[in-house]
Amino acid sequence: MTTRSVILGCGSYLPAQVLSNDALIAAHKIDSSSEWIERRTGITQRHIAAENETTSDMATNAARAALTDAKIDIADFDLIILATTTPDHTFPATAVRVQANLGMERGFAFDVQAVCSGFVYALTVADNFIRLGQAKKAIVIGAEKFSRLLDWNDRTTSVLFGDGAGAVVVGAYEGTGDKSDRGILSTHLHSDGRHYGLLQADDAGFARMEGQEVFRHAVKNLADVVDEALASNNMKPEEIDWLVPHQANQRIIDGTGKKLGLPAERVVSTIAKHANTSAASIPLALATAAHDGRIKRGQIILLDAMGGGFTWGAAVVRW
Ligand code: ACO
Repeated sequence: MTTRSVILGCGSYLPAQVLSNDALIAAHKIDSSSEWIERRTGITQRHIAAENETTSDMATNAARAALTDAKIDIADFDLIILATTTPDHTFPATAVRVQANLGMERGFAFDVQAVCSGFVYALTVADNFIRLGQAKKAIVIGAEKFSRLLDWNDRTTSVLFGDGAGAVVVGAYEGTGDKSDRGILSTHLHSDGRHYGLLQADDAGFARMEGQEVFRHAVKNLADVVDEALASNNMKPEEIDWLVPHQANQRIIDGTGKKLGLPAERVVSTIAKHANTSAASIPLALATAAHDGRIKRGQIILLDAMGGGFTWGAAVVRW
């Protein structure tokens, strides 16, 4: 017997305000065009949180949706992990505010910071707690109010990001230890701090990025980690039912899908509507494809992400 972490439900939340490329450009007088943004990134719109809407508000809404989807009461949970780059405050962890909002009176909650790879990191940490028996049921959330890190005068970053939150509910399950099990089959994390300055918040707190360099590393690192994930499960690319990648750029998403030989219909892409929501992008995409009926029980899902640090990672999950 091998303890596995099974995804029992998922949920998401997007702020009410939607800004098309044109509306964003007009609102912030950005020297850009809708055509440039869509052609280079695939983004057509993004959701932007209200002034008084916090990361914990969005995380709480996504977590509630995931609890409803899983039909499990909050009293059954002993762990919350929140991946975010935009905590409500420097301390305490935003996860403990979500814990209080959800009425969870036991267990423990903390944040994980790995920028756009945050959800894969948080899922990995939850999986390890569950497999070690230190937690039985966990809520894993990615939530970002990334708009508050944007310098509207910097057209190389301000057009790329959006706000939102996604969550999954994960629970322990006794499997056989082979790849026929349900749940998280493997996780793979990497970082390389030599590239700290290529994608970072500057001293004023604004997101700065050397886009082309990040792009180059993203294509290579994601290709490598996807290979690593397949090899560790002794899987061929054709065994993957769905690639659910971090949503940074449609061209990067297409590149990874192509490398795996997956047709575009088996790659979940939400970047057009959500833009890059950093740690929230994968659980938002997962919830979208699970709730519209694309992802079905028993299917193999490959998650991959790359973000500031650099950090990158992948997870193989049987739904
Ligand atoms: N509108 C119009 N023109 C623009 C804009 C804009 N918003 N932004 C840049 N340009 C111009 C540049 O100034 C440049 O002009 P020049 O040729 O006259 O110098 C030209 O467009 C091309 O710029 P590039 O930076 O080469 O554009 P590129 O095709 O590389 O696209 C992008 C930029 C979209 C940022 C791309 O590099 C990318 O997606 N990078 C990776 C992003 C990523 O994966 N991030 C990781 C996760 S994010 C996280 O962790 C927080």
